[in-house]
Amino acid sequence: MSRSDQGSPGLRGAADRVRIVEVGPRDGLQNEKTIIPAATKIELIDRLSATGLETIEATSFVSPKWVPQLADAAEVFAGIARRPGIRYPVLVPNETGYARAREAGAEEVAVFTAASEAFNQRNINATIEESITRFVPVLERAAADGVAVRGYVSTVLGCPYQGEVPVADVVRVARRLHALGCYEISLGDTIGIGTPAKARAMLRAVAAEVPIGALAVHFHDTRGQALANILACLEEGVRVVDSAVSGTGGCPYARGATGNVASEDVVYMLEGLGLDTGIDLDRLIDTGLWLSRQLQRETSSKVARASGRAEPAV
Ligand code: HMG
Ligand code: MG
Repeated sequence: MSRSDQGSPGLRGAADRVRIVEVGPRDGLQNEKTIIPAATKIELIDRLSATGLETIEATSFVSPKWVPQLADAAEVFAGIARRPGIRYPVLVPNETGYARAREAGAEEVAVFTAASEAFNQRNINATIEESITRFVPVLERAAADGVAVRGYVSTVLGCPYQGEVPVADVVRVARRLHALGCYEISLGDTIGIGTPAKARAMLRAVAAEVPIGALAVHFHDTRGQALANILACLEEGVRVVDSAVSGTGGCPYARGATGNVASEDVVYMLEGLGLDTGIDLDRLIDTGLWLSRQLQRETSSKVARASGRAEPAV
């Protein structure tokens, strides 16, 4: 049977291309219990670079005291074989991170804050306002250097510490990041708590203030809602989706956060909807299976498991 089936009515007439932002090397590996060798991270990114992905978030230049799993950011970034036409953004929380990222050769960065004060305090030890104040010089330097800056808003559908997060707070933070000069705002359901109607309502509210073409969605699959949430957001017109190969990931400072939606499953769904990603799904599946062998656990991608190529959990 063909992977392509009938497009959803809500998608008819919309642009038929979706850009996947692969966050596996960063979000996927930042929450691992053991430290993954830099060579494995480099090989992961190089394998991902051969799948047709256009954007691969490579690592993060945060404090190594806070996230020891990615303390090797400079080594990893220097070691990857960057391919022309592929963007390799890295996370930076402040000017120190920006300077380290640039020294390592990064040409695109991402700043990150949240819609919930309680989460932001735990994640980056700052209020939302303080974090945005830290971003101002980062964005100024980036503009002068010709470096593109993406912005993340976390906890857009709920917070592990605060509980409900008002949509108005998400809109306010997204608008601030966009006004500061972030070319794209990724809306993160950090703890995978949202459901489709809520995701749709949140996205609609943000899209009333920030152009839909400048919005991306970032779903963790903690409660199995990620694909449904993505579909709802695609129907609202979003065309950029963050995901992690093999469904790894989670934020170490978000209690209860588990893996990102698996890139393989997202690509499979998009193909079925007739939406092009430019990604070779079989290669992506192989890369995810290779990663799960490195991590010595079963892949979280259902599509990879169904491929018949997955080995039993070790
Ligand atoms: P702090 O302790 O308040 O800051 O941390 P500080 O300025 O006092 O710095 C503490 C030490 O870190 C100092 O060193 C600094 O020099 C150093 P010391 O003097 O003690 O030797 N330092 C740095 N070193 C390297 N690179 C840097 C850096 N900055 C300071 N950039 C800070 C504040 C923001 C630094 C810290 O809280 C931090 O790094 N947090 C990062 C947490 C994180 O990475 N979380 C996961 C990513 S977010 C996420 O996963 C969500 C997302 O996926 C979307 C979603 O799912 O919602 C994006
Ligand atoms: Mg995340």
